[in-house]
Order: sequence, then structure tokens, then C-alpha cells
Amino acid sequence: MTDAIPHVTIHMVASLDGFIARRDGRVDWLETSDEFTNGETLDQESVETFLKTIDCYVMGSRTYETALGFEAKGLGWSYGTKPTFVLTNRKLPRTRDTVEFCSGDLAQFVNERLRPKFRTIWFVGGGVVSGECLRLGLADEIRYSILPILIGDGIAFFDRLDRDIALHLAEVRAHKSGMVELCYEVRGRRGGSPNATT
Ligand SMILES: NC(=O)c1ccc[n+]([C@@H]2O[C@H](COP(=O)([O-])OP(=O)(O)OC[C@H]3O[C@@H](n4cnc5c(N)ncnc54)[C@H](OP(=O)(O)O)[C@@H]3O)[C@@H](O)[C@H]2O)c1
Repeated sequence: MTDAIPHVTIHMVASLDGFIARRDGRVDWLETSDEFTNGETLDQESVETFLKTIDCYVMGSRTYETALGFEAKGLGWSYGTKPTFVLTNRKLPRTRDTVEFCSGDLAQFVNERLRPKFRTIWFVGGGVVSGECLRLGLADEIRYSILPILIGDGIAFFDRLDRDIALHLAEVRAHKSGMVELCYEVRGRRGGSPNATT
């Protein structure tokens, strides 16, 4: 994204059969051991430079609970010092000042609270929240990273879509690890094709 207009991205990593977690929430399959000879390797510096372009994160409470679990195991907090908005109707532990709990009308929250303040808004899961984001027409872009594994069943990348959503393939990157990163613009939105059909 290069312009100054606020941009909402959905990003997650999925199995080739479209799941972001096992049915019970486990993500043990995220560590794969493939090697794609012609794939690219990302160095730490370019990852960090890229992460700096993200202004805030939005996630569902179950994704937050997974992130807290990772942290408790010593695996760190993936969202740095960026503001992180957790959607929930429950009272959850707040482990850092950058975390804020929100509930209610997601469209109003994104359009009236986040878009005026942040330029790059990243929805980082899970399936319930990404489905809600798409059903409400809030997403401009989907970054779908596919790992070289099939897990057969699990939580889908997008929960309960109620219509077709036309996309424009904007970027494809294949990594040495066997992961393929697909970046799609949602057609009919500012960043999408002018011949949008949505
Ligand atoms: N592979 C990946 O890249 C990836 C990325 C992210 C997550 N995951 C995995 O996906 C799983 C979680 O996904 P999920 O689909 O089950 O759940 P989720 O989307 O993370 O969270 C859903 C919950 O968020 C809350 N919520 C959603 N919209 C809300 C709104 N408008 N207002 C208030 N609260 C709202 C509700 O929780 P309350 O009950 O608290 O109200 C809802 O049950 C975890 O296992 C996680 O590890 C994987």
C-alpha cells in the first residue's frame, strides 16, 4: 500500500485446505519442514521494516487468547508495541497498555474510530472476525499465506460468508519454506479494479 488513505487488510496463515487452526484451536501444524528450491528467504531486517508499516492490529478474543498462550510459553508477543484492538464481550486479562478491548458495531468501530486515526489496519484473525469484516464490506485487501500442509478439518479462514466476493490478485510470493503468500485486493473498493462486480 502506498497511498495515505486508510487501508484494512486481513492477514492469516492457512493450510492448503483453507484452515487457520484445528477444530480445537490448536496451531501445532504451523511449523512445516518443506523446502522450495526457487523460493525466496526473508531476512529479519526486511520483516522488521515491513512490520513497521502496520499501524494497528484488530483480532478476535480467541486469537488473543492464543497469543496470550504463546506468550506464556515464552514465544513472545507478535504485535510489538502497536495498538492492538481485541473484540470481545467478555472480561479478559489485559497484559499490556497497547491492548484495548472493544465490542459492538464493528463497521462503526472501524470506520469512525480506526480509519480516522490509522493508515494501515491489520485484521489478524481469527475466522469469525475475518468473516465479519468481509460480510460488513470493511476489508480492502486479503493476505492469504498458504503452508504446504493439509489438515483435513478445522476453523475456516472466513466464517460464514453470505455472498461471493470478487478479488483481484495483486501479488504472489513463494518462499523457500514452501509457503505461498497471496495478496488480493477486494474488488469494488478503493484499491480494487474499476471493473468491480461486488
Ligand atoms: N493461522 C493463523 O494465521 C491464525 C490467525 C489468527 C487466529 N488463528 C487461530 O484461530 C482460532 C481463533 O479463531 P476463531 O474464528 O475461533 O475466533 P476469533 O475470530 O479469534 O474470535 C472470535 C470471538 O471474538 C469476539 N468477537 C467477534 N466479533 C465481535 C464483535 N463485533 N464485538 C465483540 N466481540 C466480538 C467474540 O468473543 P467473545 O466470546 O469474547 O465475546 C467471538 O467469539 C485460534 O485457534 C487461533 O489460534 C490462526
